[in-house]
Formats: sequence, C-alpha cells, structure tokens
Amino acid sequence: MGSGGERLCTERLQLRAWTTAPDDLARLEDLYGRDEVTRWLGGPPTLPMAELVARWQVVRRADERYGCWAVQRPDGVAAGTVLLKPLPQGVGEVEIGWHLHPDSWGQGYATEAARAVIGRAFGLGLPEVYAVVRPGNERSMAVCRRLGMAPLGRMRHWYDVELEAFRLMAPVVVD
Ligand SMILES: CC(C)(COP(=O)(O)OP(=O)(O)OC[C@H]1O[C@@H](n2cnc3c(N)ncnc32)[C@H](O)[C@@H]1OP(=O)(O)O)[C@@H](O)C(=O)NCCC(=O)NCCS
Repeated sequence: MGSGGERLCTERLQLRAWTTAPDDLARLEDLYGRDEVTRWLGGPPTLPMAELVARWQVVRRADERYGCWAVQRPDGVAAGTVLLKPLPQGVGEVEIGWHLHPDSWGQGYATEAARAVIGRAFGLGLPEVYAVVRPGNERSMAVCRRLGMAPLGRMRHWYDVELEAFRLMAPVVVD
C-alpha cells in the first residue's frame, strides 16, 4: 500500500499511489506545469514533485478514508490525480479534487475515478464530501453535477478565495 491508499479499480481505470519513480515524476511535472490545469488550482505547485508525493503520503496516513491517487488509463498512462482530503480552514469538511492532464480530458475519467474514491470513503463511514471550484471552471462543475453533487453557491470559506461549493451526502442506510 502506498501514498494513495489501497488500489481501486473501476471499469476502465486503475487508481494507485503516485510514486517517485522517474515516469511518475515526469508525468507530474508535465501535468502541474500546464497553465490550463494550474490556473484552476491557484497556480503551479511551489514544491518539487517528489515532495508533493511525500505530502500526499502524509494525507493518506492522517485518515484511511483520505488519499491521493494516480488515475491510470487503460493504456497504462497516468491521466492525472484524484484526491480526497480535509479542506483547509474548514471545520472537518472533506473535499474531493480532480486534476487531469489535458490529453485525458473528455473521456469521463475524472467522473469515473471520483465516483470510486467517494464510494470507498462513504463505505468507510465518511458522511459527506465537498468539492470547491473556481468560478468559471465549467468542466469541473460539470463533473460535480455528473456525480450528483448539490450546488451550495459561491462562498469564501476555504483557500481565501470565492469558490463554488458542491456537496454530496452519503446515502442513508436503513436497517
Ligand atoms: C476538471 C477536469 C478534471 C474535467 O475533466 P473532464 O474530462 O471534462 O471530465 P470527465 O472525466 O467527467 O469527462 C466528461 C467528458 O467526457 C465525455 N466522455 C467521453 N467518453 C466517455 C465515457 N466513456 N464515459 C463518460 N464520459 C465520457 C463526456 O461526454 C464529457 O464530455 P464533454 O466535456 O464534452 O461534456 C479537467 O478539465 C481538469 O483536470 N481540469 C484542470 C484541473 C481542474 O480544473 N481541476 C478542478 C479544480 S476544482
């Protein structure tokens, strides 16, 4: 088991931990070196990629429900990242995030991977999950809608910026 928690499989994808192997680091450099990705994340990462991978291991160790997964396409290429972690400046809210390389957009991979991560977390007792999206990020808001997340409107609770917030509650289990 690595930084992203257990491996997850969906119909088309394998979700696994990002590693510090050269292929993974090169792909992360490419992904997080692109303005069309990082403009929606508040700018490029300020850490070297290996340190980012190490940070994600810390997230994972904090709570078994959290994690950061490399989303591997059927051809073996890592399409990007899906992560589940507490929102900064929050009061226990947990956010799901998705960052795909543009060469992997438009295939349904973000939605498919996120659905698996959310399902796993709900299965482990997480009551709800949030997504926070910069206004104008239509592709990301479309992922939220495809996942069935409810829009909560624009708010400035997290990351010190105004964000569109979405929430999905875990299904109620009736005994
Ligand atoms: C946000 C982001 C992950 C969305 O990626 P995406 O590929 O548009 O989203 P999905 O994986 O849900 O794919 C949906 C698209 O795949 C299409 N698709 C093609 N084959 C499909 C299949 N087999 N199953 C499902 N959808 C499929 C859908 O029709 C839809 O197309 P559309 O965009 O033309 O409507 C991506 O744009 C990204 O990484 N952006 C940069 C980082 C970012 O903004 N992150 C979010 C910060 S809040």
